[in-house]
Amino acid sequence: MRHFVEKRDPVRHLLDLNPLVTEAIDLTLLASRPGTKITRTFAQGLPPVAVDAVQIQQVVVNLVRNAIDAANADFPDVRVATGLADDSVLMTVEDNGPGIPAESMPDLFKAFSSSKGSGLGLGLAISRTIAQTHGGDLKVDPGGNGRGACFTLQLPLPSPASSDRQ
Ligand SMILES: Nc1ncnc2c1ncn2[C@@H]1O[C@H](COP(=O)(O)OP(=O)(O)OP(=O)(O)O)[C@@H](O)[C@H]1O
Ligand SMILES: [Mg+2]
Repeated sequence: MRHFVEKRDPVRHLLDLNPLVTEAIDLTLLASRPGTKITRTFAQGLPPVAVDAVQIQQVVVNLVRNAIDAANADFPDVRVATGLADDSVLMTVEDNGPGIPAESMPDLFKAFSSSKGSGLGLGLAISRTIAQTHGGDLKVDPGGNGRGACFTLQLPLPSPASSDRQ
């Protein structure tokens, strides 16, 4: 927890994504309603990614918190998956909420765009910035019509010159 708040320089280490995601989900669940379930479908044998672990975990925490907030109140269903695309390692976070209304889409990743009474609306803005400073991106399928939103964090495969694995 301390790592989440302390002031520090950004770092990059070659790390496996799955344990980072697991730890961030567990941290999020600690602060969530008891009984909240998250389905994890992790690809095995993923190549390591060159990341600042704390920053990537901040992205995971925000996406999973958003998904829990949005999920159907009676039958919450949040799914987190990891996988490999052509040139990226991916993590998706999907819920069974109402999806994102078309009118919210243009401002979704802008700061201070929150529909929540207690939200600052910073989570997605910060998350996309973190993804992009890693050379990746954060994208959304807004869902709707019975489907929840699905966010995809995309991280590039490391170049051979990246820092050493830790
Ligand atoms: N999975 C989702 N389903 C539906 N709407 C979503 C989802 N994720 C985000 N949103 C919408 O996008 C808005 C912005 O999300 P963001 O994470 O940036 O801010 P926040 O969660 O409101 O506040 P903060 O993250 O700063 O505590 C949310 O208020 C919500 O309206
Ligand atoms: Mg948020």
